[in-house]
Amino acid sequence: MVSYKELGLVNTREMFAKAINGGYAIPAFNFNNMEQLQAIIKASAETKSPVILQVSKGARNYANQTLLRYMAQGAVEYAKELGWEHPQICLHLDHGDTFEVCKSCVDFGFSSVMIDGSSLPYEENIALTKKVVEYAHQYDVTVEAELGVLAGVEDDVQAEESHYTKPEEVIDFATRTGCDSLAISIGTSHGAYKFKPEQCTRDPKTGKLVPPPLAFDVLDAIMEKLPGFPIVLHGSSSVPQEYVDIINTHGGKMPDAVGIPEEQLRKAAKSAVCKINIDSDSRLAFTAAVRKVFVEKPGEFDPRKYCGPARDEMTKLYKHKIIEVLGSDGKAE
Ligand code: G3H
Ligand code: 13P
Ligand code: ZN
Repeated sequence: MVSYKELGLVNTREMFAKAINGGYAIPAFNFNNMEQLQAIIKASAETKSPVILQVSKGARNYANQTLLRYMAQGAVEYAKELGWEHPQICLHLDHGDTFEVCKSCVDFGFSSVMIDGSSLPYEENIALTKKVVEYAHQYDVTVEAELGVLAGVEDDVQAEESHYTKPEEVIDFATRTGCDSLAISIGTSHGAYKFKPEQCTRDPKTGKLVPPPLAFDVLDAIMEKLPGFPIVLHGSSSVPQEYVDIINTHGGKMPDAVGIPEEQLRKAAKSAVCKINIDSDSRLAFTAAVRKVFVEKPGEFDPRKYCGPARDEMTKLYKHKIIEVLGSDGKAE
């Protein structure tokens, strides 16, 4: 058993309380490799933003959970080396799907876990979430739960269609499970293709897809039922068109990739939404930068010469999200 406190990590309780009162949101960035982690920590340290490092089941399989945990521990020291005196870094399991995986992360030094029972029948979601909460809270590890189903693929959890969170269920769910935060479904989804072209309109000038707005009425109703309760938005990448364009003009093929417009996330960040999950945008930044080097310098074969520019591009992206979208800069001096 390793306590996250010994590793210099923090749970989400205080971060979320401050974010709700302050009208901003904490960035939750997924990481799978060293370059992503370096970029996240550099951006957070330079902006003094609290940050949540997220590890998915896919990341654990790809990079090994032991290595990822030590990387997170190293990230705290790296942040200090960068001049961030009191780093506020949370290590979070993204989309845990069983009690066992959540327990293993708690025992292994994670400071927060998500139990995603959103694909289960309501009562089963409650029972599973409650079991995880009872275990995690013994070690002061915070728990994110999910109610409502996002469109698309949630790790291994296939969702045929999106089901918005039902506001009439949230009080019962939060009370009976004891969860610390609630991921809701209001129209976001995972990946770089969040809406089908037929769900969007087209900008007559650029020909680009304009997605439908998020269901802010559902968010408002949830906030009315659970005043001051931390709400989480998954699937919140914006799919920057400049990256999609670079990818498409440098040998890639991502037609009609579309995300959540940043002004909608800005609006959400000012509400009780205090954690905003971003993964795909970082993948796009990385891929665009690597493709550019491959096309412009076909003789290059030193990975540092293409992973380096990719890391710089991701740092730029993370800082942009922190400062221009979530407003979390300067909140962890
Ligand atoms: O929620 C999904 C995250 O973007 C993680 O994706 O399962 O491919 O690591 P992944
Ligand atoms: P995106 O695919 O929109 O980046 O969402 C990531 C996410 O929700 C991770 O849990
Ligand atoms: Zn997610």
